[in-house]
Amino acid sequence: MERPLSIISAADAAERLGKGLVVALPTETVYGLAALASSADAVHAIYRLKGRPADNPLIVHVTDIDQAHTVAVVTPEARRLAAAFWPGPLTLVLERRTGVAEAVAAGLPTLAVRAPDHAIFQEVLRAVGQPLAAPSANPSGAPSPTTAQHVLQDHRGGVPVVDGGPCRGGLESTVVRVEPDRLVLLRPGAIDRATLEAASGLPVVDGSSDAKAASPGTRYRHYAPRARVRLFTDLSVLLHAAETASGRILVLATIDPGPGLEWQPLQAQTLYAELRAADDLRVDEILVHCDRDTVGNEALMDRLTRAAASDPGKHERT
Ligand code: TXA
Ligand code: MG
Repeated sequence: MERPLSIISAADAAERLGKGLVVALPTETVYGLAALASSADAVHAIYRLKGRPADNPLIVHVTDIDQAHTVAVVTPEARRLAAAFWPGPLTLVLERRTGVAEAVAAGLPTLAVRAPDHAIFQEVLRAVGQPLAAPSANPSGAPSPTTAQHVLQDHRGGVPVVDGGPCRGGLESTVVRVEPDRLVLLRPGAIDRATLEAASGLPVVDGSSDAKAASPGTRYRHYAPRARVRLFTDLSVLLHAAETASGRILVLATIDPGPGLEWQPLQAQTLYAELRAADDLRVDEILVHCDRDTVGNEALMDRLTRAAASDPGKHERT
């Protein structure tokens, strides 16, 4: 039997969180599935609800640098980054202190921490008075939710959600491991390499080539809709593919790709909503035109490439 859909207030969310329950909350990036970071039971409930592998750690959300310092070691380099970008879509991987449930960090000696830039999430954090673990609220493998309705669909109303409208950013935060002499980029996001380098004075190196540094979550296929996703830099090649394809086709492009094609605008803020809508419409293939600006957007290209990963069987879904 389907449970009733439930939209709750921020005050109600804080009360439930205080009791060790899980609720979904909006952030400026995507909706998160939140629970007390200090409670092993609450954290395990998040893993269960997401169907998330136990070796993929969660991000802990804090009000500010001082609260971050209660759960992780905020080095001078981390402090400078937090001062520049918090609240905002930057997650810092730091040395972990005691105080969060072991499961949050999946046994790693580090902890991922960020202060979200969303009035509702901040209000809830202040009311609860302690850090909240919150991965993106999608079941593992699905695109992250960017509206409260996505969350309700994903969990069939089984997880109460505070409705903050569509998320401003639309893609998950940038994740960096902070070292004394460099930043290791574990997941690209809205805050790009050049901006990080300028603010920190440190070089940003790629985490994907460094097995030890790799963000556990990036090992898995992510952000994938049911429809097949194909990427094209050359519009004429895309148009040819559209002509010869069978089934229902949707084009994602920054400008109208031409007559006779069903298309939607390609942008970070609405990418996940478009992937979800395509599945609802039973689209068979999503053809994406990656123009020069798109190719230059590392975060957007990262998510598109993952959505297009052709062999889901090869990768576990998270
Ligand atoms: O924008 C966001 O970051 C959203 C909102 C809700 O805040 N959250 C989010 O969480 O995207 P999640 O769990 O879906 O992604 C967290 C990423 C995963 O790739 C995970 O492997 C990585 O951060 N991560 C977490 N803790 C880590 C650690 N200690 N070391 C390396 N990577 C870590
Ligand atoms: Mg996620």
